[in-house]
Amino acid sequence: MIKIGTGCDVVLGGQWGDEGKAKMIDFLAGSYDVIVRFQGGANAGHTVVVDGNKYVFHLIPSGILYPGKTCVLGNGVVIDLKELLAEMRMLEAKGVSLDGRLLVSRSAFTVMPFHIALDKARDRKKKIGTTGRGIGPAYIDKIARMGVRLCDFEDPAQLRLRLEEALAEKQALFRHYFDPSDDCRCDIDAIIAEQMPLFEQIRPYLAHTPYRLNEAIASGKKVLLEGAQGAGLDIDFGSYPYVTSSNTTSGGAVTGSGIGATRIRDVIGVFKAYITRVGGGPLPTTLAGEAEEELRRRGGEYGATTGRPRTCGWFDGVQALHAVMVSGMTRVALTKIDVLDAYDTVRLCTEYRIDGKLTREFPATLRELEKAEPVWRDFPGWKTATAGMTDWKQLPDAARRYLDFVQEYLDCPIGWLSTGPERLHTLTPP
Ligand code: GDP
Ligand code: IMO
Ligand code: MG
Repeated sequence: MIKIGTGCDVVLGGQWGDEGKAKMIDFLAGSYDVIVRFQGGANAGHTVVVDGNKYVFHLIPSGILYPGKTCVLGNGVVIDLKELLAEMRMLEAKGVSLDGRLLVSRSAFTVMPFHIALDKARDRKKKIGTTGRGIGPAYIDKIARMGVRLCDFEDPAQLRLRLEEALAEKQALFRHYFDPSDDCRCDIDAIIAEQMPLFEQIRPYLAHTPYRLNEAIASGKKVLLEGAQGAGLDIDFGSYPYVTSSNTTSGGAVTGSGIGATRIRDVIGVFKAYITRVGGGPLPTTLAGEAEEELRRRGGEYGATTGRPRTCGWFDGVQALHAVMVSGMTRVALTKIDVLDAYDTVRLCTEYRIDGKLTREFPATLRELEKAEPVWRDFPGWKTATAGMTDWKQLPDAARRYLDFVQEYLDCPIGWLSTGPERLHTLTPP
């Protein structure tokens, strides 16, 4: 059995997001001292349910509900100050104190109002189905070396210079390429007047986080890194261009936190016992029609950030093998097994057939992925309520046979099984 909480570990989404990462982070966080978000931004919707109370986090790490744990927004996260403050106020209103235990990286890039306008304008032309949270444009500016970091707000003259550079291109884009009647939110004085007071409220939480995190590790503190999105949405390894704009795989945990690769021990991949995706892009194992609607209803598969219905399908072994490989996953957490309780047959895709050829390799191109036909392996359903189960020994034999196959197929042991949204609905194998 894996002994968690003994070092520095990472939790990642293994599929196309919404695997139940936050549920697992919340379950595991009790064994750690520090929880760190390292990529993505408020496109994430991370749901935690504790004693019937539901919390949805977009930026703040899902470990925040444990008093005394330090939560960190690492340098790799793109931060919308308005969203961050709204989340902080929501927590304070529920009696969660943030004093001294929330650190925000000074090096993190910001999501500015014009990034959000640009995200929406671009998605109207090229339908990726983004969350409209400005994530892509904020990362584009980072890579183009014209981003605005939180530390830029510490020096108003520097901030104005950074904004002038970023805005010149945006204004031209809106004037000549996107709809000129759109509000591009590019008025520099209005941006500074809106954003500076927000920054002043975040200023007390700023920190040079790579140093603080490495000091914590050196002093024996346990660190848990919380991924957002999932492997299928990774900018390098996902179903490009239907991806998000960051590395959602384990490399992102290193570059987005300043914790070196040699410090990381376990990489925990969270997978649903089936699969969903939201936004555009293919899902080879999709269930169409009434069957899909049934799975969506049973799983409550509507986006935690945008409320959009998620496309639903059976577990995709080819996609999962790829995720395990590129992130070097050492353990799997399998969630929402209870959603399959009523099924006569539970299916799993073991291979793709592309142009008549069988493969276990996740294709590099969208063209191939769109042609992929799943080869199925069928398992008899367990037809027993696992919902809310807390003891591995109670699992029905048919469910165990399915789980045994999954871990053998992935060559990665299942360390946790989730049977419900609550922290306690979690089984660990004997
Ligand atoms: P995340 O983005 O990976 O953190 O996942 P989301 O919060 O977007 O979506 C997962 C949804 O499934 C949330 O509504 C969770 O409360 C819920 N959930 C998590 N684990 C389980 C489980 O084992 N069973 C059931 N029925 N629901 C779960
Ligand atoms: P969590 O962390 C599921 C999807 C969007 C869209 C694509 C690009 O809750 O698992 P973006 O706004 O990032 O530029 O959108 O990525 N997407 C997610 N899907 N869960 C998420 O986060 C997602 N974050 C982004 O739907 O298809
Ligand atoms: Mg989510």
